[in-house]
Amino acid sequence: MVAFTTIAFSAAALLGFASAAPNTPPSTGVIHRIFAGSTVANKGLHFEPENIVAEIGDLIEVHFLPKNHSFVQSSFDKPCEPINDNAVFSGFQFNTMAGEAPNVFTFPVLDKKPFWFYCSQTAGNHCQMGMSGVINQNFDGAATLTAYKAKAALTGPSISGKIPSNGGRVLPNKPL
Ligand SMILES: *[C@@H]1O[C@H](CO)[C@@H](O)[C@H](O)[C@H]1NC(C)=O
Repeated sequence: MVAFTTIAFSAAALLGFASAAPNTPPSTGVIHRIFAGSTVANKGLHFEPENIVAEIGDLIEVHFLPKNHSFVQSSFDKPCEPINDNAVFSGFQFNTMAGEAPNVFTFPVLDKKPFWFYCSQTAGNHCQMGMSGVINQNFDGAATLTAYKAKAALTGPSISGKIPSNGGRVLPNKPL
């Protein structure tokens, strides 16, 4: 068991997935599951839920439905591109069969600032078509998810993030 754990960790290291960021807050134990892709909403180009309220130390866990999606952190001002070189990025997680991809992507909520995200799949222009969401939107302001999507529709091809990403981890998708 110990040997297996060691192997699993070094395999993750070889794949380049970062361990938790240095300033990770204490865990609250709360997990928010977000499903990337849908069988019905917006012809599949949808995150469910797409507007999340979370506390510092909560964990976000992204599950990937068919066929081939990613999760990338952006700014409000520039949709469909990474917020910076350390943007949270899942890589592409694909599943051509029905159901969820074999891996999930997790990262901790580090602060209460609005956190915008999108799918960077360029085949089918997922972000431009409305596949985006937000964690901790400011509900009093003009920076709404509707406004983000309207701006996203006018952008060029999406840009993916870089791995290793800031505090994010790709982990096996375990049944609940
Ligand atoms: C998933 O999408 C990415 C980006 O378009 C592409 O590079 C990759 O080959 C795709 N994977 C599969 C299995 O289709």
